[in-house]
Amino acid sequence: MHHFNYKSGRLHCEDVDLHAIADEVGTPVYVYSSATLRRHAKVIQGAFDGQDCLIAYSVKANGNIAVLKTLAAEGCGADVVSGGELLKARKAGIPASKIVFSGVGKTREEMALGLREGIHQFNVESGAELLTLSEVALSMGKVAPVALRVNPDVAAGGHPNISTGKAGDKFGVPWADAPELYHQAKALPGINAVGVDVHIGSQIGDIAPMRAAFEKTIGLVKFLREQGHDLTRVDLGGGLGIPYKADDNPAPPSDYAQMIAEVTGNLGLQVILEPGRVIAGNAGIMISETLYHKPAPDRTFLIVDAGMNDLMRPALYQAHHDIIPLNEPGADHPSATYDIVGPICESTDKFAAQREMPELAPGERIAFMSSGAYGAVLSSQYNVRPLVAEVLVDGDKFAVIRKRPSFEEMMALEQIPDWLT
Ligand code: LLP
Repeated sequence: MHHFNYKSGRLHCEDVDLHAIADEVGTPVYVYSSATLRRHAKVIQGAFDGQDCLIAYSVKANGNIAVLKTLAAEGCGADVVSGGELLKARKAGIPASKIVFSGVGKTREEMALGLREGIHQFNVESGAELLTLSEVALSMGKVAPVALRVNPDVAAGGHPNISTGKAGDKFGVPWADAPELYHQAKALPGINAVGVDVHIGSQIGDIAPMRAAFEKTIGLVKFLREQGHDLTRVDLGGGLGIPYKADDNPAPPSDYAQMIAEVTGNLGLQVILEPGRVIAGNAGIMISETLYHKPAPDRTFLIVDAGMNDLMRPALYQAHHDIIPLNEPGADHPSATYDIVGPICESTDKFAAQREMPELAPGERIAFMSSGAYGAVLSSQYNVRPLVAEVLVDGDKFAVIRKRPSFEEMMALEQIPDWLT
């Protein structure tokens, strides 16, 4: 469910005509709906009503501070994977007590930042990281609350590039090593092992692999408790999928919550969840303008002003995004088949191959739907293209929440060494 709809033949975000945003801010531009973000946060939280549950929104999906602030106001915590994300979450007003710090490669500086802020939990991914965290905590006179991320060796079923829970993946500690690592953790003065963490991948539409991984994880919690570890939390990661196409049918949050209630039972555990995409994905679109038609012997390329540097998902994961015109096509509008490509000098700069859609003239505006998660956060300045702008809508208001840098601003970060001046 989202708030991007045609009104009087023009695509709107809530009550704002998207043409008005494109006129003022230019294209390409991301547009997010506050109402959709709030609704998704409420639906997820509502599904877990009655369970002791922390919804730690996964900042990596969309880390704009205004988006984080919108979600903070709904009571969300944050799952962060870098010092930068941690600082953004704090700046957005998310209390440290609702922040969990994930990721395989935390530096000492990042650990110290988390400890200074007093975050809820570090999700630790290796024995070496555990030792380092203990050292850093001790040097600060603190004890780090820790969950070890375990690798349950369960295939998530999504795109292989975003599966994280199989034995060959870099994520989590090998299943068989977990008991020994908890034993070691107990002896480390800077560590307090409070829980177990698992995350098996992203864009998972089917609950079965999640249930399998969570059942295994809860089995481990029980075993570790028997071994004398006082575990009070389980972090079950993110990963719930969203519909990208009309006929996609991912499991709804209610089924997911029901399954988690069944699996975690009455063990008195705080359940931590790290949803990203399910909150932000369908709350955002990217607007682009068509530039040229380029006929080739076997196809027509539709060249648009957005590139893979602005929206990486099709190039990285062959991901599908619905692409619709801002002007609603009439019933008798002809259709056409295009390869929709950007201006970047890479063959992977292709958003869609042989996509049948309403015929579009050069200079028309289009929306890449479902781009709110892993869209702007993955953007770059490749080909010296200014970082894509972002706009937040709330009702009939809109505001730029990340401005498009000028070329002067972009070049100001670069320096010419003495010997070249
Ligand atoms: N927790 C951890 C430890 C994660 O690694 C991730 C995502 C999440 C939570 C949030 O997962 P979500 O609820 O959003 O599925 N760029 C890819 C997705 C990469 C996901 C990385 N980790 C894409 O555009 O499909």
